[in-house]
Amino acid sequence: MRILGIESSCDDTSVALIDASDKGLFVIAEKTASQIDIHKKYGGVVPEIAGRAHAEQILPVVEEVMKNQEKPDAIAVTSGPGLITGLLVGVEVAKTLSYLWNVPLIGMNHIEGHIHSTLLEEQDGPKNLQFPALCLIVSGGHTSLILMKNFGDYELLGNTRDDAAGEAFDKAAKLLQFDYPGGPKISKYAEAGNPNVIPFPRPMMHDDNLDFSFAGLKTAALYWLRDNALAVADPNPITLPTGIFATPSRAITLNDFCASYEQAIVDVLVAKTMKAAKKYKPKTILLAGGVSANKKLRETLQKETAELSPAPIMKVPTPGYYMDNAAMIAAAAYHHAKKKEFTNWKEINADPNWKVYEKK
Ligand code: KG4
Ligand code: ZN
Repeated sequence: MRILGIESSCDDTSVALIDASDKGLFVIAEKTASQIDIHKKYGGVVPEIAGRAHAEQILPVVEEVMKNQEKPDAIAVTSGPGLITGLLVGVEVAKTLSYLWNVPLIGMNHIEGHIHSTLLEEQDGPKNLQFPALCLIVSGGHTSLILMKNFGDYELLGNTRDDAAGEAFDKAAKLLQFDYPGGPKISKYAEAGNPNVIPFPRPMMHDDNLDFSFAGLKTAALYWLRDNALAVADPNPITLPTGIFATPSRAITLNDFCASYEQAIVDVLVAKTMKAAKKYKPKTILLAGGVSANKKLRETLQKETAELSPAPIMKVPTPGYYMDNAAMIAAAAYHHAKKKEFTNWKEINADPNWKVYEKK
């Protein structure tokens, strides 16, 4: 079947048409209009501006994806969680198309979408997924460990008690005056740094639960920058804010700072995932959400997963589908469409707080 996916929960207006069957979830056409340039100057996503930009972009994006295409068999739209200003735009467009084309509608959970980003473009992707799957979902808004017992059957094992992992990256990046989103920039600088130079805290790492806390890490970064100065070893440094950076005589570099900060986040994420893996013995470990683009996290988790006995299969998003996209929303809708779990267009609601593990 052909499923049209629509995603507008944060700062990407994304539309994708996929061909979905048990043999795989393959993209036919897709287009994403990013708002990063618009939000950059504010240092984060401004909900009102995001809503307006989604409203301006969404119809041209739908039009481009559907050019020369027959109408789809189903429409899947992110109806939560996310920013209400963006969700409303996607939901209204999806519901209108559903009514006009007389095509069934599926209200999709954004996190369920991220989980399915690991199955896109893979031969027999849905068929090959082995349960139970332990999912580490790490994005700008979420950090959760979820046990997936089957398609549509999720149990929350652990959650962040304050900031999400992506938020921790973005907040430290903001202290360094990097543009939003800062995660990719921190990890780029980290590549050439020493991760053992600054002993950032590993919050809750050894606690006897599967929850996370990252707010203290940002505060530790703030105090470190207040009390220390960084040498700039980078041959092409960013514009340096006064007071934060000193002359290149100091030993600790911007690269070391980023590497140490990244290592602290990775250590906590991997330790908690391993704790959960030892307890629940999953057949698959699935890493998804925007922060799964982080190479250090992927490599460390892969290495530790391989050391478990028996070793679960580790899956990460198909390249190009780490960050928010509509193809993953359409992909996750496939198993709902198969079971005819449709949402009446008169009843669909945008729900900014929808939890994937809570039955609707
Ligand atoms: O899933 P996503 O696109 O949007 C949300 O649903 O939040 O995730 C965006 C987050 C941002 O916080 C961004 O800084 C982070 O993913 N991110 C990274 C990397 N690439 C994106 N964090 C660390 N390292 C990266 N390479
Ligand atoms: Zn996301």
